[in-house]
Amino acid sequence: MVDGARLKVPLEGIWAGSPEMLRVCEAAERVASTDASIMLLGESGTGKELLARAVHRLSAYSNGRFVAINCAAIPDSLLESELFGYEKGAFTDAGQRTRGKIELAHEGTLFLDEIGDLPLSLQAKLLRFLQERTIERVGGRTEIPVNTRILCATHRDLQGMISEASFRQDLYYRLSEITFTIPPLRDRSGEVLLLAKRFLDQYSAELARPLRGFSHQALAALEEYDWPGNVRELENRVRRAVILCDKMEITPQDLELSGAKIPEESFKLRHVRRLAEERAVRKALAYCEGNISRAASLLGVSRPSLYDLMRKLGVT
Ligand SMILES: Nc1ncnc2c1ncn2[C@@H]1O[C@H](COP(=O)(O)OP(=O)(O)OP(=O)(O)O)[C@@H](O)[C@H]1O
Ligand SMILES: [Mg+2]
Repeated sequence: MVDGARLKVPLEGIWAGSPEMLRVCEAAERVASTDASIMLLGESGTGKELLARAVHRLSAYSNGRFVAINCAAIPDSLLESELFGYEKGAFTDAGQRTRGKIELAHEGTLFLDEIGDLPLSLQAKLLRFLQERTIERVGGRTEIPVNTRILCATHRDLQGMISEASFRQDLYYRLSEITFTIPPLRDRSGEVLLLAKRFLDQYSAELARPLRGFSHQALAALEEYDWPGNVRELENRVRRAVILCDKMEITPQDLELSGAKIPEESFKLRHVRRLAEERAVRKALAYCEGNISRAASLLGVSRPSLYDLMRKLGVT
């Protein structure tokens, strides 16, 4: 853990304790009040939506709504009417005039989540809206002006999609006047343990399960793990552990992280030094093909000391 590192709340709803994450939050705070479109990139569970909501709250559009639409969760055939709305009778089931998400975000923020999943046909329509700032409902003829802040997010490689022509470059530029890449949890110095402790406090209070904390092995396992699901996964694992834990301390098994085999011993300096000594002695002996005098001189100790050391370490 970073020496003296503490968890902070740089933006409402966001906990951060690493310089990497604090930097992103500071930059987001700085641009929140501008009109610039912001593209949030990052792996699943890194906090893209949390950051988008925080930017909305700090923006000039905070009195309006934060309207989110997940482009990956809605079938392509419905996405157009979800985004743009429709007039009565525009298609078979169009019973009454319905406003789309873009219109609902008037004077507020439109958050286009999973923008990399927007089909090409709608990319063209969205681009038109971003250029004209007006929409036409499906089946409608009137141009409706919409004033909204645009934020979007994706875990996809948009540059790669642009080079294979599945994402429009002109749309990309409109959407990403500013881009933030939220680092994955594994790249945030010291943040895993800080967040884990904070989720532990939260859930042991919420679930009325007083606990002493994590065992040494659990702390080691938390640090060792790669966190593909990032903060969302960490939060879920800690929450589940608080529920499952039947002792005062959370173990790697409670976290379902038993894969990380780090004995408690490994933290003790005595143990670390012993391992380092053993490694050096074995290496020296191998290098000198078992010649004790030469190995001793390589290691900078006397022959009798090396014999003692070998006996102590169990090196034969
Ligand atoms: N910095 C953080 N502080 C506190 N909680 C966080 C943080 N980052 C993520 N979380 C938790 O993880 C959950 C997932 O965050 P969010 O929905 O913003 O991720 P995402 O990047 O949009 O993920 P996806 O790509 O899967 O949609 C949040 O609801 C919150 O509970
Ligand atoms: Mg999300």
